[in-house]
Amino acid sequence: MRSVVTGVGAFLPEHVVTNDDLAKIVETSDEWIIERTGIRQRHKASDDQAVSDLAVEACRKALADAGKTPADVDLIIMATTTADLTFPAAATIVQRKLGCPVGIAFDVQAVCSGFVYAMSVADGFVARGHAKCALVIGAETMSRLMDWTDRGTCVLFGDGAGAVVLEPQAGEGTKADRGVLSFALRADGTKQDLLYVDGGVSTTGTVGKLRMLGNQVFRHAVVNIAEAITMAAEKADVTIPEVDWFIPHQANQRILEGVARRLGLEEHKVISTVAEHANTSAASIPLALAHGIADGRIKKGDLLLLEAMGGGLTWGAVVLRL
Ligand code: UT7
Repeated sequence: MRSVVTGVGAFLPEHVVTNDDLAKIVETSDEWIIERTGIRQRHKASDDQAVSDLAVEACRKALADAGKTPADVDLIIMATTTADLTFPAAATIVQRKLGCPVGIAFDVQAVCSGFVYAMSVADGFVARGHAKCALVIGAETMSRLMDWTDRGTCVLFGDGAGAVVLEPQAGEGTKADRGVLSFALRADGTKQDLLYVDGGVSTTGTVGKLRMLGNQVFRHAVVNIAEAITMAAEKADVTIPEVDWFIPHQANQRILEGVARRLGLEEHKVISTVAEHANTSAASIPLALAHGIADGRIKKGDLLLLEAMGGGLTWGAVVLRL
């Protein structure tokens, strides 16, 4: 059995923050942000929008795309680092808001790699017959973790949500099958200080703010992402030129280009939403996937490679045929 993506949905909060808007609160400029990151704008959730609200909108679209209703859903895995509450899991809040029946629901916390981790976990449930209709969500309100006096981080992140429906379908066991073909996951806890939030339940008792040594994270990103892509591709027995679309975590346009150069992959095959969405952490891959499908580039049957790196450090990649 394969875990096949049968529906995709995305949601971005209405409010857009431009680089010029940020230049009014920290010492930065539209030119600097575009040149160093490729980011032109980001979306920001309103004060009364919780991350579960963004996720619910994305899930409704994904379910409609799959021809399913909330009543069909028996598994919800939500990748987020900005859950509504410390507990319960945001996935259970989404379950309640959507009106899904009693089933399995939990969160996955791997920061920007969260969607890649969540897809890999969901594959274990769906392909082994433990779920018939899974929602895998990447959703974040990163704006809530920003130190709005730190120009090195507050210009980089945005809010949003994306979701996919995964259903089991019989395959032949070859790379021609639809569904998840392989994944590669990695974590290195010794690199915590490069990217973390300086608060937490069992330490400060506060939510905390995001801290990052950006240029050091940058250096690890290209190497680690290239490693994950190579590992996942080898496991699926696919070559880089065979991949139709690379759907990366959207942290920085220069990282996307650096990985493309390192692996010799064609840049026109890389879906980039950095300019419009900025870094939405766990949400960025499903948002980019939905974007590439909506504009007609990504089609059913295409071979996709999803990849990400984030706090932990964590990194990973998933090969799937849509
Ligand atoms: O999603 C999780 C993974 N995260 C990432 O992958 C992020 C990876 N890192 C990056 O994307 C880049 O390192 C940044 C965009 C964060 C920074 O770009 P950089 O080219 O590595 O710049 P830098 O950190 O080396 O800083 C260069 C200069 C510094 O000034 P000095 O010390 O040279 O005088 C910074 O203070 O740019 C300054 N700077 C800014 N200037 C204007 C940093 N942020 C800003 C800003 N506006 N927003």
